[in-house]
Amino acid sequence: MGLDKSESFLDVQEYLNSIDNKMLDVDYIVSQLTEDEKCRLLAAEDWWHTIKIPRLDVPAIRFSDGPNGVRGQRHFNSTKTTCFPAATGLAATWNKELLFQVGELLSEECKLKGARLLLGPTVNMARSPLGGRAFESFSEDPVLSGLLASEYINGVQKHGVACALKHLVCNDQELERNSQDSILNPRTLREVYLLPFQLAIKNSKPLSIMTSYNKVNGVHCSEDKDLLQGIVRDEWGFEGLILSDWLGTYSVAESIKAGLDLECPGPSMYRHKMLASAIASKKVDIWEVDERCKAVLKLINDTQSSGIGEYQEEKTRDFEQDKPFLRNLVAEGVVLLKNEKAELPLAQKKKTAVIGFNAAYAAYAGGGSSLCRPYYKVSPLESIQEKLGKENVFYEAGAYSFKFLPSLGNSLKLPNGNTGATLKVYNYPPDFKGDRDLVDELIMDDIGYFRMNDYFNDKLHSRSKFYVDIESTFIPEFTGEYLLGIAVHGTAKLFIDGELIIDNATNQKHGTAFYGQGASEVRSSFNVVAGKKYSYHIEFGAADTSSLVHEGPPIGGGGGLICGGILNIDPQQAIDRAVNLAKQCEQVIVVTGLNKEWESEGADRVNMSLPPHNDELIQSVLKAKPDAVIVVQSGSPVDMSSWVDDCRNLLHISYGGNENGNGLADVIFGDVNPSGRLPLTIPRRLEDNPSYINFGAQRGKVYYGEGVYIGYRYYEKVKRSVLFPFGYGLSYTSFEYNDLQVKHVDEVGENFIEVSVKVKNTGNIDGSEVVQVYVSQIDSTVQRPIKELKDFDKKFIKSGATETLTCKIPLKYATSFWDEERHSWISEKGEYEVLVGGSSDAEFLTQKFQTGSTFFWKGL
Ligand code: BGC
Repeated sequence: MGLDKSESFLDVQEYLNSIDNKMLDVDYIVSQLTEDEKCRLLAAEDWWHTIKIPRLDVPAIRFSDGPNGVRGQRHFNSTKTTCFPAATGLAATWNKELLFQVGELLSEECKLKGARLLLGPTVNMARSPLGGRAFESFSEDPVLSGLLASEYINGVQKHGVACALKHLVCNDQELERNSQDSILNPRTLREVYLLPFQLAIKNSKPLSIMTSYNKVNGVHCSEDKDLLQGIVRDEWGFEGLILSDWLGTYSVAESIKAGLDLECPGPSMYRHKMLASAIASKKVDIWEVDERCKAVLKLINDTQSSGIGEYQEEKTRDFEQDKPFLRNLVAEGVVLLKNEKAELPLAQKKKTAVIGFNAAYAAYAGGGSSLCRPYYKVSPLESIQEKLGKENVFYEAGAYSFKFLPSLGNSLKLPNGNTGATLKVYNYPPDFKGDRDLVDELIMDDIGYFRMNDYFNDKLHSRSKFYVDIESTFIPEFTGEYLLGIAVHGTAKLFIDGELIIDNATNQKHGTAFYGQGASEVRSSFNVVAGKKYSYHIEFGAADTSSLVHEGPPIGGGGGLICGGILNIDPQQAIDRAVNLAKQCEQVIVVTGLNKEWESEGADRVNMSLPPHNDELIQSVLKAKPDAVIVVQSGSPVDMSSWVDDCRNLLHISYGGNENGNGLADVIFGDVNPSGRLPLTIPRRLEDNPSYINFGAQRGKVYYGEGVYIGYRYYEKVKRSVLFPFGYGLSYTSFEYNDLQVKHVDEVGENFIEVSVKVKNTGNIDGSEVVQVYVSQIDSTVQRPIKELKDFDKKFIKSGATETLTCKIPLKYATSFWDEERHSWISEKGEYEVLVGGSSDAEFLTQKFQTGSTFFWKGL
């Protein structure tokens, strides 16, 4: 439009008549906004929308989590959506093209969910296997993370939807995440923790960035001017919107001055009236407020081409055509770790034992804000039954893997026979003498886990103090003793056939659920007869009905509930049954691992172990059947030391989204040749991990004592052997590398190192190979890692064929380290070595190159 002068219009009406395509004239609008409107514009209206200003035609826009699906505008009773593999599963594909396509499909979902801003991807670093949210970040390597995030963002933003790259920066653990202070030196900050943000901004220009909850070197990131203005805006030239993490704005003036545009979520705590007071007292200048307003308005313009309307109703797309893509995506992220006697892939026609909790339970996602409600989910057992025919597949759990008792799922029925429960929401408690004031009545198909933090109804007296009666009929699948459990953020009592079975309202204890705000799970047992009907009734009270006192900021709203149940088993008998089954079958698959409760936002893991009894189960099965195929499912590494040497066939899978089981089964049975590579080193023991002695907070501080030596960079430097190295993964075929070429390519504005290599598929079947390019500085004035990943390429190569794989790396990124004396990147004149192979511990092809001069640089 080119209408940038407020003086151009006689009045607002003339302005409104002049705008076409709904593109806002940002400067004009800012000139017309009242101070009150400005103060309101800088905070979200509610959990998922910015505010609208109708008189100036400024629409509200919606945000949605992210990153492995688009949940829409409700945590509570969300609309169903496409669920993609968790980020470590996406990263295990090492496939840039696929990540771009993931982005494109996400943008389609955003359009249906009416969300113009997708809250993702997450590029924090997997410093420790214990990081509760490590599954949601891509990798331990900043370059792998940054390059994959770039493709994801390019895919999403191609269609007019914006991404919020998160969480800037060093939100690498969950413990005390709002207050912990990450202490690290500038070099480590630049080379490891900021680098994925820098790469993504260079390669994909995300339209938004989300700040993290924590402090870095004494300053909260949402108040850090050196970070937001100094590095992100001035040095990197970022022109988009910076928003806070949810309830991660902690100040009025400091955050505005630092460059934090938008407080999230609403209703606002630190803007609106408080901002007006800060303007009046000149704690902030109005021009600073105007800058922040411009960023909000600019994002509205930047996402206009998406065509997404204001407060659009949410829709779904459970399309057949998406399924093969999602299925292949899962399969490409499955990593084959052992196949010692080429016993994999398994035959499709044999009598097969399937063992393990994660075989029957579709662990499709990690926990926390990234969790979405899937259109459907497929367990490995279901996929294997589909492939082999139900008559050939026999199942035993062997050991359970849950942390909280799993949802009763199909065993809870509505009067019409459908699965689910009825929820009635009241303003007054069950014992209220009078009309309880019914506010809402709804049906949910699964009540195993829900959050009511963003539940709202006009008739509610309070968003955080209300009561929900949950009714269903429990029809158990088995006869015997059931364990029943309830964890709650709020209060809850469970009654079966009118009898109080669980009281999690009185004498509550702190637990890890609901970001540490919930009461721990209370369990009880109850004897049932299979097929018999029992009335199942829960009295749930929202967050403020609990008198538990929590540390840390409240997460707001109505709280949530985890209610589950399962047949109680004797651990040894369960293992014995599984071993007996294994002995009777021709081939055996064990699927073990973690799930969304063990790996979740809000709580770090306490150790690297598999859930109780799972190691014993695997050991016992392997003793009976040494050729058993073991599948470990987890978002970050688990301890395999007690059985890994006895195991010949081993696979790893992250949480796979909708097609979780299908993608895995395709690899096990050879429909897909595995090509996944580990985005994380699997250490022998937790104690070997470089962050081990510093992980967790030491009276509020987290010392990044390992410096730049994160993951493989440490294991290689100190020559510590690991179980499976970074970048590792096998194939059912073999590849041969030849003819490595390294050349300088100088283009206007940027110089590159171009690396190409010929890769031949020397086996009998087609397959994809991942070529990884590492660079090592031969002689440096500082200590550096032995080598650092700089780029990678993946190609499908037919049996017997040869393909050329190429990487073009900006020279400065290939060579530089952060110079703490000069406060800039330095590329030292000298000799460097390029190492090319299929894993970080491959037998590399190598070639040296020289640089002619030392130079310093900043920016992108
Ligand atoms: C998470 C963010 C998320 C936000 C909104 C926060 O708890 O840290 O990643 O986008 O909630 O759900």
